[in-house]
Amino acid sequence: MTYTYCGSSGLQLPRISLGLWHNFGDTDRFDVAADIVKYAFDNGITHFDLANNYGPPAGSAEVNFGRMLKTTLAGHRDELVISTKAGHLMWPGPYGDGGSRKYLIGSLDQSLRRMGLEYVDIFYSHRYDPQTPIEETMQALIDVVKQGKALYAGISKYPVAEAEKAYKLLAAQHVPCLVNQDRYSLLSRHVESGVLDAAERNGVGFVAFSPLAQGLLSAKYLNGIPSDSRAAKPHGFLQREQVTEEIVKKVAQLNELALRRGQTLAEMAIAWLLKDARVTSVIVGASSVEQLKQNIGAVNNATFTSEELEQIG
Ligand SMILES: NC(=O)c1ccc[n+]([C@@H]2O[C@H](COP(=O)([O-])OP(=O)(O)OC[C@H]3O[C@@H](n4cnc5c(N)ncnc54)[C@H](OP(=O)(O)O)[C@@H]3O)[C@@H](O)[C@H]2O)c1
Repeated sequence: MTYTYCGSSGLQLPRISLGLWHNFGDTDRFDVAADIVKYAFDNGITHFDLANNYGPPAGSAEVNFGRMLKTTLAGHRDELVISTKAGHLMWPGPYGDGGSRKYLIGSLDQSLRRMGLEYVDIFYSHRYDPQTPIEETMQALIDVVKQGKALYAGISKYPVAEAEKAYKLLAAQHVPCLVNQDRYSLLSRHVESGVLDAAERNGVGFVAFSPLAQGLLSAKYLNGIPSDSRAAKPHGFLQREQVTEEIVKKVAQLNELALRRGQTLAEMAIAWLLKDARVTSVIVGASSVEQLKQNIGAVNNATFTSEELEQIG
């Protein structure tokens, strides 16, 4: 594994991080999940990305990760960067969703209890909430850092203008934004129009989520929807309808190119993100150790010829 500084901070992140959005909830096998986390750590993945609502049920990924911290990962707290977030619906009523100070601080306290931690390394505002003044959301991040409940602050999925505003508000109170986390893959390129450049300009790191477009950027959907895939699972965020003929056609072309490069499509899709120095880390998901092993292999060939880049488009 290689590590790189996150923006202009002193914190290094592994180029590949592990996300616990799917596959780590109570609907999943704990032993499989623990093996994936163990394999990750043994292979240099020090950064684990969680959120209050990961599961299902919401909260269970944090509970399960907390169990792993006491077993598989026991004694290694200072070698780990643990992230969590609040911003999406977590509990009923007006205080369990959005960007209010009430929600963010209450939620972080709950996350710490679920994981059995005194602090997380990174606490994110999980989404921009247009109903809450951005000053209030940022002040909540600043205060949890100053209280020692989080070491760094981050934002996720903010439109570029609001991200710039967030960077300025955080920097003004000496809690610089560590990182911006957004969706980025061969099939989802919106961050190329401003988000990546703004992060770089402000000394903020960038981590890419859903690098495989939830599995679409692998060979698995080329001949239908396998029964054990995310698109087939009732709680999977990837819906069957998203596996369209048009996507499968595009993926088949990318798959050809990956094979010519001597990589699997999953490896090539991750490598394509890693080639960009503005991308600090790529947060992969995995439902098996085998998948994670393959995904980590992406670091072995992350250079592309200009012809290959032209073909990718
Ligand atoms: N900030 C945010 O709002 C936000 C949103 C989404 C995600 N995230 C973060 O990003 C992380 C990653 O997101 P993601 O899970 O969507 O990432 P992803 O890497 O795009 O998709 C992961 C899924 O793809 C399949 N897969 C992985 N490796 C494979 C391989 N080598 N070959 C074939 N299939 C493979 C598996 O699904 P199967 O079940 O089909 O095997 C796996 O669960 C999340 O866990 C979370 O931490 C953040």
